[in-house]
Amino acid sequence: MIRTYFNQRAAIWDKIVAENDRTKLERMASRLNIKPGSSVLDIGSGTGIFIPYLLDHIGQTGKLIALDIAEEMLKVAKAKGFMGDIEYLCADVTSLPLGEETFSAVVCYSSFPHFQDKLKALKEINRVLEDSGWLFICHTSSRTEISEIHRSILSVRDDTIPDKDEMKALLQAAGFTNTRIEDQSDSYLVSARKP
Ligand SMILES: C[S@@+](CC[C@H](N)C(=O)[O-])C[C@H]1O[C@@H](n2cnc3c(N)ncnc32)[C@H](O)[C@@H]1O
Repeated sequence: MIRTYFNQRAAIWDKIVAENDRTKLERMASRLNIKPGSSVLDIGSGTGIFIPYLLDHIGQTGKLIALDIAEEMLKVAKAKGFMGDIEYLCADVTSLPLGEETFSAVVCYSSFPHFQDKLKALKEINRVLEDSGWLFICHTSSRTEISEIHRSILSVRDDTIPDKDEMKALLQAAGFTNTRIEDQSDSYLVSARKP
């Protein structure tokens, strides 16, 4: 269902839905603890809005996998021809076709609310992270704003961001530590570490 919803919006996504404020995107990417040479998994890449900002941080020696369940969204991302060590993968976050301990960071930019089984998704993310690797769940709007927008759209009306306590409990149950949740008026950022 969610796959169909996003596939149907792929062609118009960048024009009418995606975040187009480069300053906000740059600022968010710089808040993530991503070092040059990192291997990063971007889950829910969509049309690749956040990809250039991630590539800036991983540099020439880093590697990026852009993953999404909706192949039409990924097609748009691929067509942008981003330069760098980047691979596109169509898959569901709850069943990642990737080995254990592969990534130093996993990023979910503007995608986490749409994961239908959040605990299963977080456990999968934990599995593919290296020890001491970081998960970043981020948005360039507040949690309340995201939930309000989603509630007004029938197909995604239940796709909300869990509140602080629920988010902490989910992350703990999935094996994460060092959880930090920053919910601000114009951004939302969760960082959590695999021990
Ligand atoms: C709101 S869009 C954001 C796309 C992009 N990050 C952006 O900001 O423009 C959410 C993306 O998450 C993807 N997605 C939703 N559920 C997913 C899942 N279970 N596994 C992988 N990707 C998923 C959707 O297909 C969609 O492309």
